[in-house]
Amino acid sequence: MAIPEVLPFTALVGQEPMKTALVLNAVNPAIGGVLIRGERGTAKSTAVRALAGLLPEIEVVEGCRFSCSPGSGDLLCDECRARQLAGEHLLRVSRPCEWSSCPSTRPRTASSAPSTSSAPSRRGAQLRAGVLGDANRNILYVDEVNLLDDHLVDVLLDAAAMGVNIVEREGMSVVHPSRFILVGTMNPEEGELRPSSSTASDSASTSSGSAPSPIGSP
Ligand SMILES: Nc1ncnc2c1ncn2[C@@H]1O[C@H](COP(=O)(O)OP(=O)(O)O)[C@@H](O)[C@H]1O
Ligand SMILES: [Mg+2]
Ligand SMILES: [Zn+2]
Repeated sequence: MAIPEVLPFTALVGQEPMKTALVLNAVNPAIGGVLIRGERGTAKSTAVRALAGLLPEIEVVEGCRFSCSPGSGDLLCDECRARQLAGEHLLRVSRPCEWSSCPSTRPRTASSAPSTSSAPSRRGAQLRAGVLGDANRNILYVDEVNLLDDHLVDVLLDAAAMGVNIVEREGMSVVHPSRFILVGTMNPEEGELRPSSSTASDSASTSSGSAPSPIGSP
């Protein structure tokens, strides 16, 4: 029997507070996210990846790189609205919920350097989706959130709170929905959260590891 690439959620041993916090945020992402504190090797990353496998498929607008929701009344990105205005009937397709990560070293979190793309926009060039665009309606996994630049933490928390990401770069702009299950992990041995990050966050928090130590506001 092939060994699954990602350990199923149900195979995680113990770690009940972490699992409960993840599931609650999956049920209602408006909780604001989870911060998982724990030592290395305590299944933090494994649990986040496994959570994606637990979630049902979602319906998205076919061809939308921001995974807009096709439900009536839901916020559409600029590109979907332009397609609608042009008379196109937006089709819906199902896809699995995914997780995307936001490494502390990658600068394209908020958005997006201008680029030409195979999907032409009205101007022939468009902004790349960026981490927040990829994360829409998925799980956004921020490993080592304590090592992330303050500015990026603010951008993530703003987008999580507003549900929208507004990108303006070099004469181009795009507005797209940005709703995601925010999960940050950190190893307290590698440094604490910066004060601005921890006070700015409404995140539910929990911990994993041999010595549980919940922090932040529940
Ligand atoms: N409670 C647990 N249940 C199942 N597997 C675990 C558990 N804790 C650690 N592991 C295993 O240990 C390895 C390291 O886990 P990982 O998720 O990378 O840890 P972390 O992200 O906390 O450093 C993985 O192969 C994971 O399956
Ligand atoms: Mg890890
Ligand atoms: Zn769209």
